[in-house]
Amino acid sequence: MNVQVRRIDGDLAELLFNPREVDLRVGETLTLCERESGRSVIVQVIAFRSATYPSLVLDQLHNLLGPEEVSAPLLEAIGFPLALPENGQGGEMGNIQVALGKIRKTVPAAPLEAPVIGKAARGASAITGPGTGRGGRPLWEQWDGWIPARDVEVFRTDDREVFSNSTRDLGHRLRLGRTLAGHDFFVEGQDLEKVNVITGVKGSGKSHLSKAILLELIAHGAPCVVFDINREYIHLPRTEVDQETGKTIRRGIVHLEAGGNFRLSVRQFGLAPMMTLLNRFGLPEVSALHFENRLARLWAEAEGMEHGGGQAPYIGLEQLIQMAEQNEFGGGSSATVVNHAIRSRLEALRNTRIFARTPREAASLGEAYRRIREGGALIVDVSGLSNLAREGFVQAIIELVKDLCLGEIEHGTNRFPFIFFEEAHLYVSRQSIDYIVTRARHLGITSFFVTNMIHGLDEAVLRQADNLFVLRIPFEDDVRHVARGAATDYETMAAFVRRLRQRHALVIGNVTSQYPLMFEVNPLEGVNTAGETRFFFKT
Ligand SMILES: Nc1ncnc2c1ncn2[C@@H]1O[C@H](COP(=O)(O)OP(=O)(O)OP(=O)(O)O)[C@@H](O)[C@H]1O
Ligand SMILES: [Mg+2]
Repeated sequence: MNVQVRRIDGDLAELLFNPREVDLRVGETLTLCERESGRSVIVQVIAFRSATYPSLVLDQLHNLLGPEEVSAPLLEAIGFPLALPENGQGGEMGNIQVALGKIRKTVPAAPLEAPVIGKAARGASAITGPGTGRGGRPLWEQWDGWIPARDVEVFRTDDREVFSNSTRDLGHRLRLGRTLAGHDFFVEGQDLEKVNVITGVKGSGKSHLSKAILLELIAHGAPCVVFDINREYIHLPRTEVDQETGKTIRRGIVHLEAGGNFRLSVRQFGLAPMMTLLNRFGLPEVSALHFENRLARLWAEAEGMEHGGGQAPYIGLEQLIQMAEQNEFGGGSSATVVNHAIRSRLEALRNTRIFARTPREAASLGEAYRRIREGGALIVDVSGLSNLAREGFVQAIIELVKDLCLGEIEHGTNRFPFIFFEEAHLYVSRQSIDYIVTRARHLGITSFFVTNMIHGLDEAVLRQADNLFVLRIPFEDDVRHVARGAATDYETMAAFVRRLRQRHALVIGNVTSQYPLMFEVNPLEGVNTAGETRFFFKT
């Protein structure tokens, strides 16, 4: 490949090339191999500049020498005439471009007797030994500041070499799409575990990427939960379970419609989410205290009865409202005020439609989970809920998922869920995010926070994210924010995501050993990924 190293400054390499001959792209990995020693550095292209250099060089040379033959090895190497044109600008000269590359890694000289260099030798040799990694490919090392001297051969690093050094294969490879060079792009499932962030501007393909990941997880037998706010996931292939044996015939999704076929009993909902919700409905503190105390006692009594083999009476919203009417929530001299406040909020809760009206209506998350435990996704469709109700409902589900996880831990079965929070900013509170992020490792939960509110992503969350998937972000401010938390520098982030091509994503994190990689997201042909947009002007 006819690419010349113009100079290296810090960790930035300036490379000269002729775009008519060489097609370089931002994000591509190049190997700069010093001919004499066989040592190399791995460089990733982050930007292009039009080459003011050759003309600059020409001017300088003109100044120094006048318009006669000069020795210009740099220009010679690129294949341009040594004689300087009179006007100082050759026809081809204007085409030369500068690629800026960030030095990321060092590759020690290949352990061969004769120093053989070049792409062919590297690609073909399947030797293993010191300095070679998976499949006998060169093993990268942390860049230690060494830079190659002038006599350097530049070539495109084989995708397989990039993968063997940045991704792992523990037998759970998920295919997310294709690389810039057109090879299948896989990540190791285990490296996706715990905390992931998927971000980018509106319409950049976040949900599409989430679906691509989700479908791969399902295919690999992972249980997933998706909070779907736009009814975008409900048309994915459904799960099929044999009614008699309970065995899964086909892995897919189960559609749970919050406020419709999926409602929770007050007890299932849990005390903490209930109190959050009542608080959001403006229940005064004193009333909240009385209510919480009474409810906690009520649940304790119910549990006592159940332990003793009995059946606790059903307590739904209606029953609680009746209790408030009978001033049962205490309050001493202000009992009427307290109970009235409680009653009015409970009535507001009734209108959210998230609570079951009868015991039969109360759905069991555990039961639904069993249907997808061996691979599948519960699509929790929260599109029908108000913003307030949504937040409380999701919080309640998180609590229930936590209990499922504790059950898995207790039985040593470890079927922990992967949870997707679509448009997380709309209903997941800061506390809930903090809770999930800090408890994820203990509980085994993996989460994907999908959001276009880039500034709403807390720096701490970005820092703790194991993987960051970034789609196009054209705004510098947002890029700066994301780069602050990511394991990469601002230049790389800006170069990669501000002009990211359609359907492409950048990923950096555990799945790539912190090496920033760009890939074209799987188009998911043949899968109905469409959401439900209601149009007034119909086609
Ligand atoms: N890799 C891809 N292959 C094919 N189609 C894609 C791909 N990525 C995105 N699309 C399509 O582009 C459109 C926008 O993508 P998507 O809905 O995923 O964006 P988004 O970032 O989630 O947007 P929003 O912020 O509105 O939720 C969709 O119609 C989607 O099907
Ligand atoms: Mg979306």
